[in-house]
Amino acid sequence: MHVVITGGAAFIGSHFVGRLLQRGHSVSAIDSFDAFYDRAIKRRNLSRYLDNERFRLVEVDLLDLDAAEERVGLGADVMVHLAARPGIPGSILDPVLSTRVNVWQPSERVRDRQPRRRSAGVPATCSAMLPRSP
Ligand SMILES: NC(=O)c1ccc[n+]([C@@H]2O[C@H](COP(=O)([O-])OP(=O)(O)OC[C@H]3O[C@@H](n4cnc5c(N)ncnc54)[C@H](O)[C@@H]3O)[C@@H](O)[C@H]2O)c1
Repeated sequence: MHVVITGGAAFIGSHFVGRLLQRGHSVSAIDSFDAFYDRAIKRRNLSRYLDNERFRLVEVDLLDLDAAEERVGLGADVMVHLAARPGIPGSILDPVLSTRVNVWQPSERVRDRQPRRRSAGVPATCSAMLPRSP
């Protein structure tokens, strides 16, 4: 199976990459290497997989969906969306941007591209999506 993992260079995404490769799958990790955590830490998360011929790291911003799609292609069997703008302060300052990255952007493209394909949805959330306290 070919699995695309967004946010694949981060803590959870990179562990997921490792586990899928171990099980014999092909994995494309998409990540924009945003500045929230040190870029070097994220490179290190993936360093042991970079030589694996079943692994591909694609550095691209999901907000540019056309570029992301062009770089990754449409051949994925499963997409796991873990890319995120973490942190509550950021989501209060710019809720639209947080929602686009955390929830909306990839879902929209999957919906557009695979209208008739049956797919399983896995609901997930992140701290930035929690409501503000009253
Ligand atoms: N780590 C935890 O303990 C924890 C706990 C609960 C929920 N979560 C949620 O699980 C998910 C993954 O967590 P994590 O800690 O591995 O991730 P993280 O929050 O550390 O990093 C997310 C990754 O997404 C990438 N990213 C951000 N915007 C992007 C964009 N526009 N295009 C492409 N990539 C982009 C970042 O560069 C980063 O590598 C997040 O939604 C997080 O909120 C994490």
